[in-house]
Amino acid sequence: LEIYFGGLGGVLPTMPMTYSELEERAKYALPPGIWSYVAGGAGDELTQRVNVTAFEKYGLIPRMLRASKERDLSIELFGMTLPSPIFMSPVGVIGLCSQDGHGDIATAKAAARTGVPMVMSTLTVDPMEDVAAHFGNTPGMFQLYTPTNKDVAQSFVSRAEASGFKAIVVTLDTWVPGWRPRDLSTSNFPQLRGHCLANYFSDPVFRGLLAKSPEDDPKTAILTWISMFGNSLTWDDLDWLRSLTKLPIVLKGICHPEDARRAKDAGVDGIYCSNHGGRQANGGIAAIDHLSDVVEAVDGLPVLFDSGIRNGSDIVKALALGATAVGIGRPYAYGLALGGVDGLVHVLRSLLAEADLLMAVDGYPTIADLNPEAIRRG
Ligand code: FNR
Repeated sequence: LEIYFGGLGGVLPTMPMTYSELEERAKYALPPGIWSYVAGGAGDELTQRVNVTAFEKYGLIPRMLRASKERDLSIELFGMTLPSPIFMSPVGVIGLCSQDGHGDIATAKAAARTGVPMVMSTLTVDPMEDVAAHFGNTPGMFQLYTPTNKDVAQSFVSRAEASGFKAIVVTLDTWVPGWRPRDLSTSNFPQLRGHCLANYFSDPVFRGLLAKSPEDDPKTAILTWISMFGNSLTWDDLDWLRSLTKLPIVLKGICHPEDARRAKDAGVDGIYCSNHGGRQANGGIAAIDHLSDVVEAVDGLPVLFDSGIRNGSDIVKALALGATAVGIGRPYAYGLALGGVDGLVHVLRSLLAEADLLMAVDGYPTIADLNPEAIRRG
């Protein structure tokens, strides 16, 4: 209504109202290297594409006369009540997507303004303590790329706890970068240039491993980071992960129901069904096509979902297929690139407004009403 009434008064939105326009304009707002890093995916990007188009197969069934004039989009997650069912997925390069180069802090500010939690990547431009200081009353989650050095891993998790993060999201599918032709052909891998390593460079345990500080010898610091980045965890590591923290632990990248069941049995607190937006493995089916099987396998454990969410109806569909909360990835990076904190807030609010309106028109007043009965595969 805000936008419609604005239009009646002759005030048209300056930010895009569709994903395709958002993407198109972000392409010119971002430096070319950062753009291709954010927009690109693995291989010929088939998985990245089907992540998006697969939503077309699903549709909400309109229900009438169901008193949907008032809606409640709030959800419960890990003992917290959140005002809406979406969160910002961890985007490691987000720090570089804002004009001032402090995009992690800008994202935290958008979280504070919208109540939409940020899952902060391990790879940030500013240290986690500085990012968390801008969350306001909105809870944040810390995404862990688990270093092979266990003391550094423990230090990250302890720092996240001390900074007030409410959950640890352990990403499992990225212990080695995927085959990403856009990055390979441009030698464009921003983190390797050390821009997103603030959590390492500010870490007392990591610094203790170096003969000279990262400020005095950045090259050695980056090489030390590379040497400990590729930790291909196994099921045997879950007890150790559990021992790191009392915070809820969520495993990101789980798509097979057997893995989901086993993770639940191992005592994790949540599953994060995602294929990393098609950036890691190409040739897989769409992430959304895994969701119901994963949900069924874990029988009541929270399931976070992302990969391919581009509009409000995608959010509603993922919720109806059983997601507890839905992650936004590339769209919020583009919002940030185009309009800073305001641009990011615009993207989140537009996604939520579209989801809310769809629930209103189709007769689903609460998130609980969005169950498998509400959706059909066409
Ligand atoms: C990511 N993603 C990601 N995931 C993660 O666990 N840690 C990270 O640091 C990053 N970094 C990252 C950078 C960029 C540029 C992108 C686009 C994505 C994956 C992210 O959390 C999420 O799974 C995908 O973005 C979802 O796909 P869509 O919706 O963006 O296509």
